Amino acid sequence: MKPLLQKLTETFSPSGYETTIREVIREEIKPLADEIRVDVLGNLIARKGNPGKNGKKIMLAAHMDEIGLIATHIDDNGFIRFTTLGRVRPHTLLGGRIRFAAGIPGVIGGERISDTTKAYTIEQLFIDVGAANRKACPVKVGDVAAFERPFLDLGSRLVAKAMDDRIGCAVLIEVLRGLKNTPHELYFVFSTQEEVGIRGVTGAAFGLDPDLGLAIDVTGTGDTPKGSKMEVSLGKGPAVKVKDAGMIADPRIVDWMIRTAEKAELPYQREVLEGGTTDARAMQLARSGVPAGCLSIPCRYVHSPSEMVDYNDVQNAVKLLLALLNTPVEIS
Ligand code: CO
Ligand code: ZN
Repeated sequence: MKPLLQKLTETFSPSGYETTIREVIREEIKPLADEIRVDVLGNLIARKGNPGKNGKKIMLAAHMDEIGLIATHIDDNGFIRFTTLGRVRPHTLLGGRIRFAAGIPGVIGGERISDTTKAYTIEQLFIDVGAANRKACPVKVGDVAAFERPFLDLGSRLVAKAMDDRIGCAVLIEVLRGLKNTPHELYFVFSTQEEVGIRGVTGAAFGLDPDLGLAIDVTGTGDTPKGSKMEVSLGKGPAVKVKDAGMIADPRIVDWMIRTAEKAELPYQREVLEGGTTDARAMQLARSGVPAGCLSIPCRYVHSPSEMVDYNDVQNAVKLLLALLNTPVEIS
């Protein structure tokens, strides 16, 4: 699974420009799915299984976009000012490297600031692609970029840009690979534009009108020095979301996930995330409402160029999803 994860995380596809990652994922799932299509918003939707007597129509979603930057202005000396696509924090940027969708690399510099105790704002930063002046700058206003950072294998801990949420995409691909005679009609949705407001999945959920929905995404942890007070740690199992800032997970789905984890003797954690939300929110609120939940991969340094997950958590997430989807669902 590590080579797959490296391939997925090193692909550049900020929100709204998911063409490249979509083709990478499509190649992976082509031999595994019964049917594959792309909808108007760019969501990649793969079906596995047919509606059966004991089956449900289940929608699984992981977003394939990543946070990024977008050029807003190029000055006479060829420096590029930018704004963000999704929640990119300025202190993660200075000195970093980025790459535009067209393949153009650049570095991020900052204005001279007199008070070095203060963090930079986005307005004080700029991208330098090595151009001598505006005319020589190959970047146009509206061009999008993402972090440039190679995948790092630390053994059981893995680090990459865009782990949010290519790790969810990798988990779904592995689940597709591992499914055996599911009684359900499963829709694997690799969604677009999550980082700018859960947009792609909203259309997909309306179109699919599922019986239940599960998102696979990252969540924060509370296991770093003076970090947030959060009872999720790396390596203690995937997290069953109970609540985040945008959703209260359906308690029946939470029960189903926990019951299944305990029966299969798989480690899990209970998650309450105070900031952020996932594609599950849009599934829950689709049409007249859908029972929805989320399986989270604990992740340190979310939305930085170096997001870290634990490989055992990832593998246990795949196992738990297989246990959930290979048998009839009992929720009451
Ligand atoms: Co995110
Ligand atoms: Zn995410």
